[in-house]
Amino acid sequence: MAIEKIKAFAPATVSNICVGFDVMGLAIEAPGDEVLASRHHTPGAHILSCNHEKIPLDAGLNTASVAVQALLDKLGDPQMGIGLDIIKKMPVGTGMGSSAASAAAALVAANALLGEPFRKIELLDFAVIGERAADGATHADNVAPSLLGGLMIIRSLDPTDVIQLPIPSDLYVGLLFPHITILTKEARGILKTEVPMKLFNQQVANMGSLISALYREDWEMMGRSLVDMVIEPQRACLIPFLSQVKKAAYEAGALTCSISGAGPAIFTFAKGKTQIENIGRAMVDVMNELNIPHDLHISKINQKGSIVLEGK
Ligand code: HSE
Repeated sequence: MAIEKIKAFAPATVSNICVGFDVMGLAIEAPGDEVLASRHHTPGAHILSCNHEKIPLDAGLNTASVAVQALLDKLGDPQMGIGLDIIKKMPVGTGMGSSAASAAAALVAANALLGEPFRKIELLDFAVIGERAADGATHADNVAPSLLGGLMIIRSLDPTDVIQLPIPSDLYVGLLFPHITILTKEARGILKTEVPMKLFNQQVANMGSLISALYREDWEMMGRSLVDMVIEPQRACLIPFLSQVKKAAYEAGALTCSISGAGPAIFTFAKGKTQIENIGRAMVDVMNELNIPHDLHISKINQKGSIVLEGK
C-alpha cells in the first residue's frame, strides 16, 4: 500500500558566518521545523495548516508550498497533489533560517512520500525557489545547510555547486535569540550595494583563512578570521544591544560573536562544551540586565540536515 503521510524535520541555521554573506551557512541540532506531507485530491501543493499566525496559508506565498510546487513542476505529473501541515518549532523573522527550514522539511517529506524521485542534493534548487518567496532574494545560505547539514559554502546556484567544509569535532555553536523581529527584507534593504575595495580585500582574506583554519583545526586562526568587516557594521543599528552582547561573549572566551543571518539572533563559536556554556551565560546575563526576553540554543553542528521522522 502506498504511504499516505510522511513527516520530516529540518534544522535551524546560522547563515553568513561573518565572512560569507549569502554564501556560507551551517545547521544546528535544534530547534527546527517539522512538516507533514500527505496526498491531496487537488493537484499542486497546498498548505493545510500551520501553527503560527504570521505564516501565510496562501500556497503561492508560503516557502514550503512554493518549494514543493517547484518539485511537482519538475516531476511533470499534472494530477499529483500534496498537502502540507507545517509545525513551526522556532520563531519567525529571527535570523535562524525559519522559512528555509519549513521549505527544506516540506521537500524532504514530499520527496519521500513520492518514493524519492529526487536525490537530496537535487531538492536544493526547489528549496531556493521556495526561499525566494520569503524575502524576494535568491540565496541558499540557510536552505542548503538546513537541507544537507554541515557547514557549507554555496559557490554557485547556477549551476548548483555547494561545498561541505570540515568541522572540528570540538566546535560548538551558541545561538542567542532575543524576542524581537527583524524582517530579512528590511535587513537586506539597508545594505549598500557597493563595498569599498579595502573592506572587500579584508573579507576575502578572512574567508580564505577561515577555510584553512577549519581544515587545520587551527582555533586561533579561526578566531582571527571570523570577523565581519562588511555586513555587521551596516546592520548593527538594528540590534541596539549587539555590542554589549559581543563584549560579554569575547570576554568569556568566544572565538567569534556576530549576527546570525539577517538577525536579530546572535551566534558565537567556542572550542568545547564548557567554554560555550560559559559564553552563553555571559550573553544571557546581558539580556537579563537589559530585561530583554530571549532564548539560548547550544549545539554542535548538525551534519545530517533534514530527515524523515515518520511515515505511514
Ligand atoms: N544571507 C542572508 C542575509 C540570510 O543576511 O540577508 C537571510 O536569511
